[in-house]
Amino acid sequence: MQDLDEFTVTDVALAQMAGTDDPRLKEIADAAVRHLHAFVREVNLTPAEWLQGIQFLTAVGQACTPIRQEFILLSDILGVSAVVNALHDKKARELGTQSSLLGPFFREGAPELPAGGQIVENPTAPEIVIYGRVTDNGGTPIADALIQVWQTSEHGLYDLQERNGEAMDMRGVFRTDAEGRYHFRTVRPLGYSIPMDGPVGALVHAQKRHGMRPSHIHCLISADGHRELVTALYFGDDPHVESDTVFGVSQSLVVEAKDDPASPIPGLRAVHFDFRLAKAAPGESGRVGADPTKLAQAAD
Ligand code: BEZ
Ligand code: FE
Repeated sequence: MQDLDEFTVTDVALAQMAGTDDPRLKEIADAAVRHLHAFVREVNLTPAEWLQGIQFLTAVGQACTPIRQEFILLSDILGVSAVVNALHDKKARELGTQSSLLGPFFREGAPELPAGGQIVENPTAPEIVIYGRVTDNGGTPIADALIQVWQTSEHGLYDLQERNGEAMDMRGVFRTDAEGRYHFRTVRPLGYSIPMDGPVGALVHAQKRHGMRPSHIHCLISADGHRELVTALYFGDDPHVESDTVFGVSQSLVVEAKDDPASPIPGLRAVHFDFRLAKAAPGESGRVGADPTKLAQAAD
């Protein structure tokens, strides 16, 4: 029998997993074991620290509810979600609009509204209009694309936070017209703090980070034959646009609300943004968005 040390145990664990049938599961589990073992060796993890780590992950799981996904939040503040998005964009057959974080506040079932509809039930801040086109990579308009949008209120809270998820607000679903055009009304969302009252917030505090996200509007856009796009538009004058706690901002997604004679609703400040969808690869569904409120239910 072989005596195991901190190095040989890695090889023995990999050998024991070698019969995994699913090649992708094998690749992922093997790499996870190699990297986790290397991490433990690098930081010379003590048993007490190992236990603290287990306690932390247990608390992250316990903080998850149908309307709160603490594991997504953890992935986001560690930059893991941003790496996954960057890889996803790189794998596209052609260039589309850059992805950004889905975040933990997407919900399915938002109301479908007519073009120009207001997504905020009781706006108490000046209305703005968001407008543009959805096209393919070559600039050809995509008709009947589905655009789902969600955001915080002018006070910086999502409906899921303000009213325990009982009401749908600050969300809407729109379809592009024959020329690929869309527009809707909203109010400028306020930048906000990620949820800081759980284990992930405690970690962010310990790291002396501000925990803020800059003002943004989430968009999930889908159309037949195209890769689904999960992205967000970020207001460039927000004080936290350069230091997003979850690394979601790219220069190409930064927008400005301004007077715009070309706006479909004259008199309102407007954000103009055109979305480009990459074609889906053969056999690729293109679907990447998922409703995090379903994850905790699925685990029940
Ligand atoms: C969001 O944009 O909704 C979000 C993303 C990551 C963490 C918290 C919130
Ligand atoms: Fe958000």
